[in-house]
Amino acid sequence: SNEPPVVFHWFPVIGSTVTYGMDPPRFFKENREKYGDVFTFVLLGRKTTVCVGPAGNDFILNGKIRDVNAEEIYTVLTTPVFGKDVVYDCPNSKLMEQKKFMKIALTTEAFRQYVPIISDEVTSYFKRTAAFKGQSGEVDIPPKMAEITIFTASHALQGKAIRDQFDESLAALYHDLDMGFSPINFSLHWAPLPWNNRRDHAQRTVAKLYMDTIKRRRAGGEKDAQDMMFHLMNSTYKNGVQVPDHEIAHMMIALLMAGQHSSSSTSSWIMLRLAARPDIMEELYQEQVRELGPDLPPLQYEDLAKLPLHGAIIKETLRLNAPIHSIMRAVKQPLAIPGTKYVIPTSHVLMSAPGVSASDPNFFPNPEVWDPHRWEKDSTNAPTMAARVVDEADEEKIDYGYGLVSKGGKSPYLPFGAGRHRCIGEQFANVQLQTIVAEVVRLFKFRNIDGSNDVIGTDYQSLFSRPLEPARIHWERRDQ
Ligand code: HEM
Repeated sequence: SNEPPVVFHWFPVIGSTVTYGMDPPRFFKENREKYGDVFTFVLLGRKTTVCVGPAGNDFILNGKIRDVNAEEIYTVLTTPVFGKDVVYDCPNSKLMEQKKFMKIALTTEAFRQYVPIISDEVTSYFKRTAAFKGQSGEVDIPPKMAEITIFTASHALQGKAIRDQFDESLAALYHDLDMGFSPINFSLHWAPLPWNNRRDHAQRTVAKLYMDTIKRRRAGGEKDAQDMMFHLMNSTYKNGVQVPDHEIAHMMIALLMAGQHSSSSTSSWIMLRLAARPDIMEELYQEQVRELGPDLPPLQYEDLAKLPLHGAIIKETLRLNAPIHSIMRAVKQPLAIPGTKYVIPTSHVLMSAPGVSASDPNFFPNPEVWDPHRWEKDSTNAPTMAARVVDEADEEKIDYGYGLVSKGGKSPYLPFGAGRHRCIGEQFANVQLQTIVAEVVRLFKFRNIDGSNDVIGTDYQSLFSRPLEPARIHWERRDQ
């Protein structure tokens, strides 16, 4: 047959579920060495075909709508959490319009307002949080970064009124929504299990809270913040229908969920990388002193562009610790994979794993080394000529209905995906992460408790990968 090689396994339904689930990047690397860039493995009884490398990324992520489909795979997880009629509970053309509406609230003008909001949230968090009282101490960093992420993202994207409710009931409700996102729900999403009941209750409660806010704002007239909710309230589909309130509410949930896990995981990794490399944390501090002045004035959006090492820290962390390691698509008709003899039948699921090319020594010398300086031109670890395009400015662009996006067809570095389903939150995430990093660097020096340069392993149990916990580090105030 023309099907790709199947990864060897002992048991029919379990297949490679366990080895894949324990460490997906390692699973991809080992099987790529054995079978090449295209191979099939059995995941919970489904034949799953992985296509890696820039060609594989391009094949899946820029697949035609009649060939590949995301919503058929994701809807069982996302629809109970977000609610109906948005994202993967509607035709792709509607999602493309929704992404366009969401992007309107993610402009440079908006980011100018977000930086001081995020800065204030970070500084006030460290002032009031018990774990950071005194001059030095030890802390399990990921839960703290999760809180900082939710406070900063909700305040910037959803406004102060919603943000303030995260000190009370909303945090618990979002936690219940989160539980709906566990991989086990790919098969048990429908079951009347305790966590699913809590998920459904939380979805109804949070959606109502947003809908009540929308009603209040509509009744209140014009004088309104020009935030995400405002833009969605003033958006109209191409068919002339104004976005209904329940869809606005569900998009607000989707946005916060999408941003929360990815940014929280990334900021935790950044802090752990800095604890492992205090010398680089010091370089970041010196970069701010040099570029912004020794008095370190309040951060502005324009300052972020003056801090390339702060940007590189994020880029390099996403190269090695991208929170989304596997992207899946249903196959709508038998698909020939270009440049191979393989044809993928509709019974297979396609899996893209851009992290494979991002850690390939052909593109990134010494790929396992976390080296933010590799993003500087003259670095010995700079991307190779084979990487050709790592700067998206040089990539071919295409419009799927929500503005021009990079096709990513040549880039080995795609932590935000590519094509029709590409992330719209990249710029926001960068603004949020850079601001958090800059504020943390002003306040603290971090190091590993044992003084080593090691970083903890990765937890692949939930849909978004993150550091194993506890991940404790030593902190010390800079101003003592
Ligand atoms: C899509 C990564 C932050 C909203 C995606 C995809 C990736 C990704 C890989 C493509 C998924 C696919 O093709 O199936 C990340 C990373 C982030 C981040 C690494 C942070 C470090 C955010 C934030 C928001 C957001 C902050 C919202 C403000 C979205 C949305 C989509 C998306 C709406 C579109 C889903 C689709 O079209 O199917 N993201 N993201 N993301 N992301 Fe992000």
